[in-house]
Amino acid sequence: MELEEVLRTERLILRRWRAADRELFAMMNADPKVMEYFPAVLSRAESNTLVDWVERHFAERGFGPSAAELKDSGEFIGFIGLSVPRFEAAFTPCVEIGWRLAAEYWGRGLATEGARAVVEHAFSELALKEIVSFTTVGNSRSRHVMEKLRMTHDAADDFDHPSLPAGHALRRHVLYRLRRDSASDKSGVHGTS
Ligand SMILES: CC(C)(COP(=O)(O)OP(=O)(O)OC[C@H]1O[C@@H](n2cnc3c(N)ncnc32)[C@H](O)[C@@H]1OP(=O)(O)O)[C@@H](O)C(=O)NCCC(=O)NCCS
Repeated sequence: MELEEVLRTERLILRRWRAADRELFAMMNADPKVMEYFPAVLSRAESNTLVDWVERHFAERGFGPSAAELKDSGEFIGFIGLSVPRFEAAFTPCVEIGWRLAAEYWGRGLATEGARAVVEHAFSELALKEIVSFTTVGNSRSRHVMEKLRMTHDAADDFDHPSLPAGHALRRHVLYRLRRDSASDKSGVHGTS
């Protein structure tokens, strides 16, 4: 088993992907609500290509965006985890924490709960010095998760996403950072909210 094969929280199991996850992930990626802050919904083929990339990421680096499963029911609900962005920007190379859950599971604190376990693992087991997270300026839900993790936002880090064309409504992005040396018990990693 590779490092970070499974992380457990009160309600979640974060694990490597299984073939059966692909169908549910494609349904999520076809949902305009889930994809509101991305350029477009994904076709089934595009969704599978993304999972292929995730699998390669795990194989090459030993960590990646984990499939998130509800402990109680065993349902796949999306992903939460670490990845190395494929584009270049002022803050790359870096390790990003990201999340995408099916809309019916939003608003229960699940993204934050899973992300806290990922952050703790990243600093204690993977010994990363810093984790970043980014999203388009208007994605308040995702920004709220970053803020609950005690990640900090400096407007000087804001950037235009290089894969979006000039004038695209989602192009401007915010960057949040969390450093290991500022993440001890002040980080919220061990806290309740
Ligand atoms: C972002 C996402 C993962 C959050 O999942 P979640 O499990 O609902 O997140 P949590 O419940 O842990 O936290 C969300 C927080 O945002 C708050 N929130 C919800 N809607 C909000 C809004 N419109 N504006 C600001 N905050 C909002 C919630 O109240 C909650 O905070 P609280 O616990 O203080 O009440 C989920 O909405 C999602 O998958 N979105 C689509 C994919 C996406 O945008 N991913 C991020 C791309 S960078």
